Amino acid sequence: MDKNQLTLGEFIIENQKDFKYSSGELSKLINSIRLAAKIVNHQVNKAGLVDILGDIGETNIQGEDQQKLDLYANDVFKSALINREIVCGIASEEEEDFITIEGRQNTHENKYVVLIDPLDGSSNIDVNVSVGTIFSIYRRITPSGKPVQKEDFLQQGKEQVAAGYIIYGTSTMFVYTTGHGVNGFTLNPALGTFYLSHPAMRFPKKGTILSINEGNYTRFPQGVKEYIKFCQAEEEDRPYTFRYIGSLVSDFHRNMIKGGIYLYPSSSKAPHGKLRLLYESNPMAFIAEQAGGSATDGYNRIMEIEPKKLHERVSFFCGNTEMVEKAEEFMRGFQ
Ligand code: AHG
Ligand code: MN
Ligand code: MN
Repeated sequence: MDKNQLTLGEFIIENQKDFKYSSGELSKLINSIRLAAKIVNHQVNKAGLVDILGDIGETNIQGEDQQKLDLYANDVFKSALINREIVCGIASEEEEDFITIEGRQNTHENKYVVLIDPLDGSSNIDVNVSVGTIFSIYRRITPSGKPVQKEDFLQQGKEQVAAGYIIYGTSTMFVYTTGHGVNGFTLNPALGTFYLSHPAMRFPKKGTILSINEGNYTRFPQGVKEYIKFCQAEEEDRPYTFRYIGSLVSDFHRNMIKGGIYLYPSSSKAPHGKLRLLYESNPMAFIAEQAGGSATDGYNRIMEIEPKKLHERVSFFCGNTEMVEKAEEFMRGFQ
């Protein structure tokens, strides 16, 4: 990596004027996430070596197996965020309820809430396949000075002030937006520094990749089945390529760079799909739109959905705008 390349720390400072609230606040927030990301990265990298690997034999509140690294990552992000006098509350995939942070001398004056999927794609840990972290940040809407409330977390995605993901892949990347485009930083593991490697990330105009768990085909809505057939049809630019890692962060990341769509639709078994609106779909939707892509539930813009519950699920169509619009056309046509 060129030594003249901007680091994430430098980039944050150079761009903090774009943040519509107090400039130091964003730096503090992103810095604490950056720090936690490096710690989790270190642990993910040696997952095959140490006893941290594998199931702990408990299930989380969504009834899924929790892997040790999920809990580890949850703890790391929590403590990084709690200790920085900036966050008043955290909601996590791994916690049933949101966590209230009292702040300096119990004044409840911190202004931001963070929603997080500490380890995304955790079923891939055991098999050395990329996993990630997803985060979403809002300003609280209830007055500060009092403990944070549920409504501070249940905001529409369009109110996000920042969102991002970390991908622990063949290299580790930190990708985020504050509403001024999307920038990607790659970790130089020898130095422990993230460098700006992917400035102003955009979906290519034309996409040719579909990411979907086709094992659920028979349970999908007719519109999704028809869209899959459309993608498979022998035409000028089709069939498209099907690629599915089973880790939203990794599938999304590839699709943003190469051009594609990620679908986790509803099914007869899961009427609201699988992904969680607040800490999976909304942050990815914000990043997608900032990169020129789109995110809907098949009919409506994800970021305009009014959240009702912390762990609410939503059907998710996300990627190249042209592809999302095509998929929506099939959804409407076979409603
Ligand atoms: P998590 O590991 O945080 O529970 O998320 C897993 C999610 C998402 O990352 C992935 O795309 C999807 O679940 C895979 O689900 P299927 O195995 O049902 O395809
Ligand atoms: Mn996840
Ligand atoms: Mn997770």
